[in-house]
Amino acid sequence: MPFLSLAQLTKHFDDFVAVQSMDLDIERGEFISLLGPSGCGKTTTLQMIAGFVTPTAGKIVLEGQDITRLRPEKRGMGVVFQSYALFPHMTVADNIGFGLEMGGMSRSERATRVGETLELVRLGGLGGRMTRELSGGQRQRVAIARALAIRPQLLLLDEPMSNLDAQLREDMHIELRNIQRHLGITTLLVTHDQVEAMTMSDRIAVMHGGKIVQLAMPFEAYERPDSPFASAFLGKTNSLRGRVVSNNARCTIVSVNEHTLHIPHGGRESTGDVHVFVRPEKLRLGDAGIGLPGQVKTRLFLGNHWMLEVQTSFGLMRVSFPNIGEVPPPEYSQVGVTWSDDDLRVLPLEVSHG
Ligand SMILES: Nc1ncnc2c1ncn2[C@@H]1O[C@H](COP(=O)(O)OP(=O)(O)OP(=O)(O)O)[C@@H](O)[C@H]1O
Ligand SMILES: [Mg+2]
Repeated sequence: MPFLSLAQLTKHFDDFVAVQSMDLDIERGEFISLLGPSGCGKTTTLQMIAGFVTPTAGKIVLEGQDITRLRPEKRGMGVVFQSYALFPHMTVADNIGFGLEMGGMSRSERATRVGETLELVRLGGLGGRMTRELSGGQRQRVAIARALAIRPQLLLLDEPMSNLDAQLREDMHIELRNIQRHLGITTLLVTHDQVEAMTMSDRIAVMHGGKIVQLAMPFEAYERPDSPFASAFLGKTNSLRGRVVSNNARCTIVSVNEHTLHIPHGGRESTGDVHVFVRPEKLRLGDAGIGLPGQVKTRLFLGNHWMLEVQTSFGLMRVSFPNIGEVPPPEYSQVGVTWSDDDLRVLPLEVSHG
């Protein structure tokens, strides 16, 4: 039995369908991300699970118990909202201890728990501060601590790190993941940041237009996206227009601008007009005369790698070049682009999510 189960969960706002017949099973201790663009229904889904938005249809089942109509405070969940409202007139410690006090925990137990939780989010020693005296990143950590303090069985996080700078966010990804594992709290994270979803999650649910369009482990979702949408949303990709010539037992044979590509289909044969996808880091740059001829149009240095745009007969292709000391060919130079056919993916031009 899954720990949390969403069954055909649906939310309409008048005529508008924000969440459409969503099914999702989450195991105990699992970390799942809802990842998708603005407006795809992430917050609405989370708010239904938390109990702040009433579903139009469908069910929410927690440990076998139907909680669809249960009041939010009876659900025992820790929630960090997208706008993480802290109580400004209270100290950090009082903010974190608020839910514990509501739950009737004694003052001394509360002090211990608040202290532990502050340490957990690395805010030890700041308990006496007023929250208005904190930086944005510290406030977000107080909001996370407040949700963790009650040791919830389910933690719901809505963009909890959106206000942190890149460095702190990266640190928090690791810290929060460690805390989550340490406490064994089943966690559902809402984010539109694909790196955040990939680094933290056991599984990612990619959402589009109120639906889950792919549910997979991060590596799997990135390497084998189910749809053009998931492919483009999870990291950068090159998309080539092609037409299927035929399928054999192992490969789909696709013609792309006079070139014939043999693309392993893994049992998923395609026909007609298709997209061929290949990630920039799967392309290699070599001397002109080997592979697909091209000319470097742009070359950007990004620290750990270079990003090049190469004009080819397939169109403009993005090639990522790892920075291992060598400098890639300069702009305007003639190059050859090569790849392994195993790294190509074929997907139909339009995937209906209906
Ligand atoms: N109370 C409401 N009344 C009417 N429409 C709403 C309401 N709440 C949300 N919506 C609409 O439902 C859709 C999904 O909203 P939701 O807040 O779930 O998106 P989201 O995926 O969290 O987006 P973001 O990344 O911008 O936070 C949006 O189009 C939004 O305008
Ligand atoms: Mg939202």
